[in-house]
Amino acid sequence: MKKGKKLYEGKAKIIFATIDKNTVIQHFKDDATAFNNQKKSNIEGKGILNNRISEHLLKSLAEIGIRNHLIKRLNMREQLVEFVNIIPIEFVIRNIATGSLTKRLGIEEGTILDKPLIEYCLKNDQLGDPIVSREHILNFNWLNIIELDLINKQCLRINDFLQGLFRAVGIKLVDFKVEFGKTKLNEKIILADEISPDTCRLWDQQTEKKLDKDRFRKNLGYVVDAYQEVAKRLGILHEQSNIRPVKFSKPTAVKIKRNK
Ligand code: TMP
Repeated sequence: MKKGKKLYEGKAKIIFATIDKNTVIQHFKDDATAFNNQKKSNIEGKGILNNRISEHLLKSLAEIGIRNHLIKRLNMREQLVEFVNIIPIEFVIRNIATGSLTKRLGIEEGTILDKPLIEYCLKNDQLGDPIVSREHILNFNWLNIIELDLINKQCLRINDFLQGLFRAVGIKLVDFKVEFGKTKLNEKIILADEISPDTCRLWDQQTEKKLDKDRFRKNLGYVVDAYQEVAKRLGILHEQSNIRPVKFSKPTAVKIKRNK
């Protein structure tokens, strides 16, 4: 698929035109930002991993009937996707309290929520993506009630499915963010953007080790190693293959116990 001109550049992705006006190419960069662009870095290999992980998750969701923009992965960093007008709302679904929920409402970190909580944030960098209510969305006609209810239902199905998918590989899906768009072709609402460790909180089931972008936000290091671990557990990277070579520590002496 021939790449046309750049249509849009975001913080972690670039959208290019194609010869077909109903499809675009989504390119995953290695750039990482947090706290509304205040913290920036380039994490070698992140884009490649997010491309693969998001492809796997969106393909799996399509198999259970969640229509989404993915057509096919083109190469290491690019996907061919349906052209959509992105709805200016970020849908955040939470299973365990952490991040901005604990800061905003004083809910104790790690609290397991009785049922999944959906929050809405307005996509507006200048305003810092403020949280908005259902009433704001309806009042300002960002969505009508039928569209909003349809998206809410899809969010809960996506959550149910992804929770199970991650649980099967020893990962807790703590929370995540999704975006939806209206297709250019017929204005149908479909899941768009990406689902990856950049947009989810993923904790190891046993140790609660963070396997997501919080490693970057909180300066915990080993960002790519964590994303690689997610890809390996999902079975999309072979145990031996690494996007970036793992640094081996110095060999340590091993004490051998001898039977007397
Ligand atoms: P939060 O606790 O910081 O509000 O984040 C909730 C979830 O949304 C978490 O999984 C990270 C994801 N997220 C994004 O994908 N993009 C963003 O800009 C923000 C703030 C959060």
